[in-house]
Parts: sequence; structure tokens; C-alpha cells
Amino acid sequence: MQKGHIAPLSPANRMPPETQPAHATSFLATQRRDLWWVEPAFVFLVLTGFVAYATFRVFEGNDAATRFFEVDNGNYHYLSPFGTPDLTPFVPGWLTGAVGQLPLLGAFGVALLSNPAFLILPVPAGFRFTCYYYRKSYYRAFAARPAACSVEATKGHKYRGERGLLVLQNIHRYFLYLAILVTAFLAYDAVRGIWTPHGLYFGIGNAIMVLNVALLMAFTFGCNSFRHLVGGGIDCYSCDAISQTKYSFWQAVTRLNQRHALWAMLSLFSVALTDVYIRWVGMSGATTLFGVPV
Ligand code: FES
Repeated sequence: MQKGHIAPLSPANRMPPETQPAHATSFLATQRRDLWWVEPAFVFLVLTGFVAYATFRVFEGNDAATRFFEVDNGNYHYLSPFGTPDLTPFVPGWLTGAVGQLPLLGAFGVALLSNPAFLILPVPAGFRFTCYYYRKSYYRAFAARPAACSVEATKGHKYRGERGLLVLQNIHRYFLYLAILVTAFLAYDAVRGIWTPHGLYFGIGNAIMVLNVALLMAFTFGCNSFRHLVGGGIDCYSCDAISQTKYSFWQAVTRLNQRHALWAMLSLFSVALTDVYIRWVGMSGATTLFGVPV
């Protein structure tokens, strides 16, 4: 080749690196020396464990008496996030009738439609499944394409963006609206747990319920879609009182958003802890040992 001559680019070389076919290398090969695998392994274990527990709770028990989504002994009044708000009264009779006619699965379908957990859990599940933080985490932990930066993916495969069916992830903002509603119901439940139908009461269960709502709010109101909701669609943040107010809301949401991964994990644990505690209280028949009327 003559000096100073630049060879024309081949079609492959014209493609940006992220869209070029991956070279076949060994899976998870990397030159990284840090503990890069800890985070995807942790996410894998936590999400698998939570989904397994939630599935167990959805199918546990046949009626309200054996599900323990609501426990009340005349002093405490606890409501589990796995079963509230109870939407079963809103299931139309024609739907239950139609499902009941299904061959083989009819009785099972009717049982699901009378199960509060089955009706409400798709909302928080969909909200988390489409969350930008969770997406990154489970793409890495479950698909491993790649499992971390500078780590080889499965042979010949690499992340090519959210195409095809993955564009449905954009439904996230609508799950946000529903999740805000559910969080509002859980906040009401937390207040109702203290200001019970029997009078004021405060116990460990109430502390857990309040903490759970606080963490859920930190997660929900730190959502990227919520940032856009409160601060998007505007060109000037200082032009008038409304835009300045939007800017201060956006700043507050952004502060929550900076810890979004932390709130995502802590709130997942708090939801499970709240349900585990309330289920235990219901099953054990504990009285006022861990709380006092106030
Ligand atoms: Fe995580 Fe919206 S981005 S909840």
C-alpha cells in the first residue's frame, strides 16, 4: 500500500462497535480482576427468591382465613402488601362465569379471580419488571449478555438494544400510574394499622408497615418516568412560578433517583418482610405481645 493511502472501509468496519457481530469467545471470559460477578449473582438470588416466595403466597390457602393477608385480633389490624387493596369485589360476575365455563381450568381460574394477591400483584410486578434499573439488573443476571461490563456474553451473542418484543418495556410509565395508586392504598393501610377499627394501636407490625411504605415511596417517586412527569415537557425552568415549582419537584425526585437501585432492593426486602411478619402473626395467633394500645 502506498504511503499516505487510506484503505477503504469494509462494510463490517463501517458498523459502530456495539452493532458488530460478537466474536466467538469463551462465556464470561474477562480480564477484570475485581468481584464483578457479585452483583449479578446477588440480583439472581434475590429476584429468584422473591418470585418463588410471591408465587408460594399467591397459591397458599383457599380463602381469607388461611391466606393471612389481613390479621386482626381486636387490638392489632395488619394488612399485607400481598393482598391489598382487595380488588376481588370488583371482578364482574360475567367474567367469573365465563372463566368457570373453561374446560379443565375453570375451577382453577375462578379460584384465582377470588384471590386478592393474584389480582393486585401484577401491578407491582409489572412496575418492577419494566423499571430501568431492574431491566439492567436482570438482563445481566439472567441473560448474561453480558453479565457485566467487559465480560464476554454467550458465544456469538451480545446485547443489541431493546428491540422486538422488548419495546413493550416502554409501558413502564403506565405501570407507574398504577403503582402510585397501590402505594397510596398501602399508605392508607399503614395508617389504618395504627388507627385501627378498635382504637389506636402500635406494634412491631406497624413499624414494619410504615417503613415499607416509606421505602416504596422512595422507590416509586424516584422513578425515571416520574422525573419526566414532574419536570418534563418544559423548555425553561426559571421563566415563571409554575416552571420554577416544577424545577424544585424535579430536583427532589432526582435526589431520590440517584439512589434508585438502593430503594429498589430495600423496598423489595421490606415488602417481603412485611408479608412474612403479618403471615407469622396470623399463623401464630400472637396477641399484643409485640405492641400496645396507645
Ligand atoms: Fe425504576 Fe421507574 S425507572 S421504577
